[in-house]
Amino acid sequence: MSDRIRELLTSVELFAEMNDEEIDDLTLLAQIKKLEKDTCIFHAGDPADAVFVVASGRVKVVITSSDGKEFILTVLGPGQVFGEMALLESAPRSASVVTLSAVEVLVINRSDFQRLLDSNPRISQRLMAILSRRLRRANSKMESLAYMDVAGRLARYLLDLARDHGQRLGNGWVVVRRPTHSDIAHSIGTSRETVSRLINEFEEGFALVNKGKFTYIRENLLE
Ligand code: CMP
Repeated sequence: MSDRIRELLTSVELFAEMNDEEIDDLTLLAQIKKLEKDTCIFHAGDPADAVFVVASGRVKVVITSSDGKEFILTVLGPGQVFGEMALLESAPRSASVVTLSAVEVLVINRSDFQRLLDSNPRISQRLMAILSRRLRRANSKMESLAYMDVAGRLARYLLDLARDHGQRLGNGWVVVRRPTHSDIAHSIGTSRETVSRLINEFEEGFALVNKGKFTYIRENLLE
């Protein structure tokens, strides 16, 4: 098991500059947890005692309105870290995190993570870069919610999905695992019915193709 944890740690962007010895130390501290689809890892408002890295599968980061409506802030996949904000701020969880598939996560407890940041400024710098990128993406999402119509928001969502989670096929198309229309709707602030109608229109315009568990997205979708 520790070989697998070690291998997973070496593929995590946050730990990219750690040397072999540091990775060995972290391997002893990290635990691996297997979770089924639709498991809530923690809820917004929970107290925080650990940071997580997605080892396999995908999770969604969600906030829920007082009348129960879900908004998906982002979807995270292998190598991506979550749960760091509450630890850095000593505050409760800012959002809930729920598995979208069977998922394996690496768990590092609060005091070990804190020691890691204290002893290794390069990890802190990497973390700042990751947080800046997230803020940039959040700004871009705010921009699309403020200024774009639903079709534009869907196109932007699909291009972000292709960039973040897609596999380039080299012929102008990118393939991604197919998100549900309901998850797309909850990511762009519209209804599932509207997403289904627009996806049909995109398919008719040959901007995307759905096949089984996968969606093929044309790279120049917005052109
Ligand atoms: P934390 O607040 O501990 O728990 C929820 C986690 O979701 C948070 O840490 C971040 O890791 C992650 N998160 C919250 N908001 C965003 C966002 N806008 N983009 C990406 N990840 C986020």
